[in-house]
Amino acid sequence: MKINVRTFIRQSTKSIQKEVGTGTALCATSGGVDSMACAFLAHRALGKNLIALFIDDGLMREQEPQTVTKLLKKHGIRTVTVRAAQDFSRALKGKEDPEIMRKAFRDTFYKTLGKAVRKYHASHLIQGTIAADIKETKGKIKSQHNVLSQIGISPKKYGLRIIEPLKTLYKPGVRKVAQALGLSKSVYQRMPFPGPGLATRVVGEVTPQRVRIVRKATVIVERALKKYKPFQAFAVLLHDRATGIKKGSRQFGNIIVIRSVDSRDALTATATKIPFAVLDSIQRSIYRQIPEVTKVLYDISPKPPSTIEYI
Ligand code: XMP
Repeated sequence: MKINVRTFIRQSTKSIQKEVGTGTALCATSGGVDSMACAFLAHRALGKNLIALFIDDGLMREQEPQTVTKLLKKHGIRTVTVRAAQDFSRALKGKEDPEIMRKAFRDTFYKTLGKAVRKYHASHLIQGTIAADIKETKGKIKSQHNVLSQIGISPKKYGLRIIEPLKTLYKPGVRKVAQALGLSKSVYQRMPFPGPGLATRVVGEVTPQRVRIVRKATVIVERALKKYKPFQAFAVLLHDRATGIKKGSRQFGNIIVIRSVDSRDALTATATKIPFAVLDSIQRSIYRQIPEVTKVLYDISPKPPSTIEYI
């Protein structure tokens, strides 16, 4: 859908102001382009009556909590961080099935938000759900964590009144809005990062130790592939393990997959054609920096039949 960005921003700003009135709204902000665009839009509408809520779930990429909150504050947005890593870790413990894990994540996420809504006496929650999230949840592909209405859950259960200003837009439209709102190129061109964070990149049980492995591998993959401008590039930790040799002896270690895809709107995708030398250099860095890994693979699957993430 072609959008007139200025008109979209003007109308959305007015509609947020009308809906929230003199109340206070919280905007759950993870640092991805959708939630950042949403926070900037809501800030334009509400000024100091908007609180950007950053939930540190312990599932973020390296340095993400610091970078995101610094950026929000730099733009004059009132920002609150909730440290909830232990709550998420407890909720995900022992859950290996993807949908059960997603549900546990979602429940913890909304409980945390609900608490913040009450603490700050907020009347509304503004969130960056986009059209693709709704479409894929509706199509029963994955229950995206943020599409409560589509999965038959009433926001009232969590004491929330929800506004989703970006829900008619797909990723390219969101990027244009983010750019027009003054977000820097490094933010509006950012790769999408899923709501449940690195938990979608750990197949099997999501433990803090397994998240640490995938986080380290993610830094290596993202850095090496940045210049190819993929839609998304990241590392995945598999459930399976593989025998390898470390320091001259046998080790039954972990398997990391390098995943990089080109896409327009995340509804379909193809694997990025990465030169072998680049893949080779990534695998070397992974073996060198992450002793727990004994095998590195490159995933060539398109979507469909695959999906972008692993769970
Ligand atoms: P899949 O794996 O379904 O991913 O091909 C499509 C796009 O959605 C992102 N993704 C999510 N985003 N909550 C989100 O906010 C989620 O639960 C979720 N699951 C997948 C994924 O990174 C890709 O951009």
